[in-house]
Amino acid sequence: MNYIGSKHSIIDFIEESIIDFAGNDNKVFCDIFAGTGVVGKRFKKLGFDVLANDTQFYSFVLNKHYLENNSIPSFSGLKLIGISNPFIHLNVLDNYRGFIYHNYTLEGTLGSKYERCYYSSENAIKIDSIRDCIEKWYKKEMITKYEYYYLLACLLEAADKVANTASVYEAFLKSMKKSAEKTMELKPLDIITNKNSKCKVYIEDSNELIKEIKGDILYLDPPYNSRKYATNYHILETIAYGDYPEISGKAGIRISQFKSKYNKKNEVAKEFEDLIRNANFKYIFLSYNDEGIMDFKEIEEIMKKYGEYKRYECNHKRYKASKNKEVEKKTTIEYLHALKKEC
Ligand SMILES: C[S@@+](CC[C@H](N)C(=O)[O-])C[C@H]1O[C@@H](n2cnc3c(N)ncnc32)[C@H](O)[C@@H]1O
Repeated sequence: MNYIGSKHSIIDFIEESIIDFAGNDNKVFCDIFAGTGVVGKRFKKLGFDVLANDTQFYSFVLNKHYLENNSIPSFSGLKLIGISNPFIHLNVLDNYRGFIYHNYTLEGTLGSKYERCYYSSENAIKIDSIRDCIEKWYKKEMITKYEYYYLLACLLEAADKVANTASVYEAFLKSMKKSAEKTMELKPLDIITNKNSKCKVYIEDSNELIKEIKGDILYLDPPYNSRKYATNYHILETIAYGDYPEISGKAGIRISQFKSKYNKKNEVAKEFEDLIRNANFKYIFLSYNDEGIMDFKEIEEIMKKYGEYKRYECNHKRYKASKNKEVEKKTTIEYLHALKKEC
């Protein structure tokens, strides 16, 4: 998934820097701004017990699947009713016009105050039908909790691929792009099998969760600026919940949204220091780039108060949607601030 601030392209740099600073003999890794789960996944593969957290439910779903699932689900409950492959069954469903169709397609919103074009009618009906079917299977106990999150994670990834956006859901494109015209296909996602890893996923404000958990390595990847994840990924949130939220404006954004203090210039430093102070971890790492609302000197000053500090950095090519929706390339410096906590 193309996610703002994703660490997909710099995951090797993150792993190498963390192992360089903290060594090889740690067991519990914690990723409390987990997003798509790229970092937690890597540390699960390395054999760590991983705790992951994010305030967004789509992130919870993705991390539940990648971290807590350890084997290919058997779908034995579905087999009992003659469904041997849920993907074949789900991919042909086209019987339900639900919330996504009625609010995020041109056909479904035609003549209303805001006409929206996030999905083709065909794909929106597929999303609604698949989401509805997964929920019914789960409520009727025909699939397990693990199978439920697995299928939901597959649906999120598939729906994101056919969204008619420049990558985030703050706005839709005026005309349908090629990838949005393709028929959505639900595909099985990778399963990370590490039966020795004990992983757990939370959905909480990190500054609250930090008071309840402990471990060896704490990895922090909060928002760097005022761009709100709840707004930028609001449709994924609705698909994940499968609910009927109150929405507003041209983009049809969910009204009640979590407001992160990490998005606010006048609150972020205090919030960050509270997190470091309350953290019951020996090693703490913070990813932040050179365009963030805290500068690296401010971060260094805060972290140095709590122990031994070091900074790693690498260049990162990021893609930025410009005003005319063309994609432009830009290089930023990604910092990894490291702290060995002493007090
Ligand atoms: C930079 S992204 C993380 C990207 C992630 N490392 C990846 O590679 O996909 C920041 C994440 O922090 C989450 N977030 C923002 N404020 C939060 C808070 N107070 N507590 C927990 N999560 C928060 C956002 O929902 C978002 O998913």
